[in-house]
Amino acid sequence: MKILHVVGARPNFMKVAPVIRALETLHATNVLVHTGQHYDRALSQTFLDELGLPTPDVHLEVGSGSHAEQTARIMERIEPVLVEQQPDLTVVVGDVNSTIAASLVSAKLLLPVAHVEAGLRSFDRSMPEEINRVVTDRLSTLLFTTSPEAEENLVHEGIERARIHFVGNPMIDSLTNHLDQARGSSILETLRLPDRGYALVTLHRPSNVDDAATLGGILKALADLATDLPVLFPAHPRTVKMMRAHGLDELIGDAGPVRCVEPIGYIDFLRLMDRAQIVLTDSGGIQEETTILGTPCLTLRQNTERPITIEMGTNKLIGSDPGVLVREARAVLAAPRPEPQRPPLWDGHAGERIADAIVSWGGD
Ligand code: UD1
Repeated sequence: MKILHVVGARPNFMKVAPVIRALETLHATNVLVHTGQHYDRALSQTFLDELGLPTPDVHLEVGSGSHAEQTARIMERIEPVLVEQQPDLTVVVGDVNSTIAASLVSAKLLLPVAHVEAGLRSFDRSMPEEINRVVTDRLSTLLFTTSPEAEENLVHEGIERARIHFVGNPMIDSLTNHLDQARGSSILETLRLPDRGYALVTLHRPSNVDDAATLGGILKALADLATDLPVLFPAHPRTVKMMRAHGLDELIGDAGPVRCVEPIGYIDFLRLMDRAQIVLTDSGGIQEETTILGTPCLTLRQNTERPITIEMGTNKLIGSDPGVLVREARAVLAAPRPEPQRPPLWDGHAGERIADAIVSWGGD
């Protein structure tokens, strides 16, 4: 079988790596297409290298743009690749613009699509990712889910159960495969961070970073929290751009109360998540990774498409209000650390289950 995998943005790489590895052992032919949605080395090449992903066979170099521009550019550039390659299956992961663009083109060429991480729903269509999820699932022939409620979401939308495979979480495969290596990382020493004595922050959602008052409020709350413990903030380029645009960049810096640093690679970031006293984020994947690590996570959103992380007790939704942020963070710091949790099938073998399901399906 020939399987064409599409990646584009940072969170895609750790989801696709275990699937490609498992398909290799089953002697499938893998073709890797990188759309170039993320192009900074720190968001892309570093992850390919650390995860042992092959050099992409095709790089579409689409870069940034509005949602329509970016999605359209990926569609235009991936169409001739799919026509030429004629894969038995196109595998897309997650919920980024590369995911929806590749699915749409593949489905119209009558090339079947498999969606890894299907069925997650925030039920909030103001999130671009929610639209990407719903449309991609609609177009997919095979739907691989990470948690039981995802299957129910899909069935509720009219998708036949026979096409849905509950396989577990391939992002957790990558975590499991790299945790030993992460334990050898010296990032805490390099950044002079006390073991289990610092807060780790990531922010990039438009709802948190695009509005000056919202972003300013969050940064001031983080500066307040920094009187309790060091706060490390590896900032996404989008967030840095917004801080500059809103005149907020002088509030922080590596020497400021909140230590704003460049995005950090996969292995060092795993180490930082594992040894943090608290994580504050608006990322999807980090809610899942902290669940497995038993690091308390406060999610700066009103909803999550990953409710299992809340049920497990490691994650809490707190929104973006500065007063709530400081209060909830201090409550976490005063409480005992939660136990690491393992949702069903988050066992490091999701990639193998996906590869087995693809090979058994065989193009029917
Ligand atoms: C994208 C995904 C989001 C995911 C996130 C992970 C969509 C709709 N969003 O958001 O779901 O959680 O990736 O990081 O697909 N930029 C750079 N260098 C880069 C990439 C982006 O400077 O390598 C800057 C550009 O100013 C760009 C902005 O970040 O305009 C936004 O990038 P984009 O890929 O559109 O979305 P993300 O915010 O990264």
